[in-house]
Amino acid sequence: MTAIKVSPSGKIYNEKSNAHGIYPWWATGVVYQVYPRSFQDSNGDGIGDLQGIQQRLPYLRDLGIDAIWISPFFKSPMADFGYDVSDYQDIDPIFGTMDDFDALLKAADDLNIRIIVDFVPNHSSNQHPWFIESRSSRDNPKRDWYIWRDPKPDGSPPNNLVGFFGGSVWTYDEQTEQYYLHMFLEEQPDLNWHNPEVVDAMNGVLHFWLEKGVAGFRLDAITILIKQEPLHDLPEEALTATGLELLLWLDEMHNQPELHDILRDFRTILDSYEGERVLIAETNAGSFEELNGFYGQNLDEIQLPMNLRTLNLEWDANVVAESIIEYFDSLPQGATPNFVFGNHDQPRLVNRFGEVNHRSANMLLLTLWGAPTMYYGDELGMADGHILPEQRQDPFIGEAGNVGSGRDPQRTPMQWNSTSNAGFTDADIVPWLPINTTFNSNVEEQAEDPKSTLNFCKQLLKIRHESDALRFGSIQFMDSAADNLLIYERKIDEEHLLIIINFEGEAHVLDLSAISDKATVLLSTRMDDAENLNLSKFVIRSHESVLLKL
Ligand code: NOJ
Repeated sequence: MTAIKVSPSGKIYNEKSNAHGIYPWWATGVVYQVYPRSFQDSNGDGIGDLQGIQQRLPYLRDLGIDAIWISPFFKSPMADFGYDVSDYQDIDPIFGTMDDFDALLKAADDLNIRIIVDFVPNHSSNQHPWFIESRSSRDNPKRDWYIWRDPKPDGSPPNNLVGFFGGSVWTYDEQTEQYYLHMFLEEQPDLNWHNPEVVDAMNGVLHFWLEKGVAGFRLDAITILIKQEPLHDLPEEALTATGLELLLWLDEMHNQPELHDILRDFRTILDSYEGERVLIAETNAGSFEELNGFYGQNLDEIQLPMNLRTLNLEWDANVVAESIIEYFDSLPQGATPNFVFGNHDQPRLVNRFGEVNHRSANMLLLTLWGAPTMYYGDELGMADGHILPEQRQDPFIGEAGNVGSGRDPQRTPMQWNSTSNAGFTDADIVPWLPINTTFNSNVEEQAEDPKSTLNFCKQLLKIRHESDALRFGSIQFMDSAADNLLIYERKIDEEHLLIIINFEGEAHVLDLSAISDKATVLLSTRMDDAENLNLSKFVIRSHESVLLKL
């Protein structure tokens, strides 16, 4: 087989990176998302909780992540499993108490793990006292804290807007004879961010958690915070749109300049606290240009507007490379890129990219320039669970055109060991979602297997932590005639690394002599010793990814 010549091509990104060590932790650190219902149950009710997370902190420290973002654990009727908050400054009893939270924060701090909380500003629960008051009469002082509108003359909703979970965004209130707006479930009424009292109250919530010492916030559904006034109808074609297309139509109705004033204020609040606090935002931006707008004109808004694009990519080297390069090319000067490869709203990484590719996906995530977010269980290669109709929990199911089968499969309990409930709960009950039978492995088993995905991820995280090149070095993509390879170099000073990701089932022989005359394999997805270190005939095996030190 003739060796495929590989040579540097194109632009070098992040070439003039700052001097070592002056980066804030969030620019190089790894964020690990914990879905608290599913991580660890400590009290035997079959639902994960804060004490459970605390018990598992040593695992997270050994894994080598820098921060955990915990999905909402605030007081909630759980219509959307915590994304419907009825008290922003209290803990839901399902998850524990404020003392439990304080203890978790302290224990995490002792292990040098930061805690990021999920802030859900767009909507509260319909059981929040603010909404109960708002709903009570048209002249209640909190009426204008939510978005109330008269019916059209024929009694129908004020406009034709369809929500993220399908159906009209308007629910009629018989008592006060008006409709209220909810972009998600009717149990999640949207707050009116045009009202300065709402802004003040919610800013107060940020202060509350910052004073406790959280490292920052993940901001939920931030792009839709400000509604376009007057609220108009969507065009016909939007009403038949599904998936991302529908999300983009909906966002178009919302993305407003005032939003940036609000985000700048959030940032000012954050920056008024000591330590490097961070804002990470969920965005449904249609283009990178729109996404990058959330950094703020002077990088004074969101430090990490989540790049969720990869969640919808096909596992194809060209598709992935194009998206990454388009993203890097679009970044404002000084902005920190970021990549999210899995979350509680999307099928698991294994299901999107394929069982044979999940280690490569982690290799990519953790070796690209930028801040990575990992989803719990992806370090084991957990797959989507199979949820029977009678076991379904997610209210999303069946209603939305955009996520067909609901989000339960990617939320099944973390698998810790081989006991009947996988160590997630000691109780002899069926947990809130069943233990995943599609994925027959667990932490304990993988910890003992030197070639497991868990040990692969641990090694990768360790290498990342010790490597200046990976954390803040430059990145340059390589040219090769092979379509399904992605090859890039990370460099800083004397440290040069080369990452080769083989997206397909074919092996290739590569001629890397134009890049370097020496190399050692730091890590391969195969977790074995390199077969061949002849750089003019380097063999990259099927679906393999390697990290080479040049
Ligand atoms: C985005 C969250 O990620 C999702 O889980 C939730 O249902 C909606 N926002 C509504 O808060």
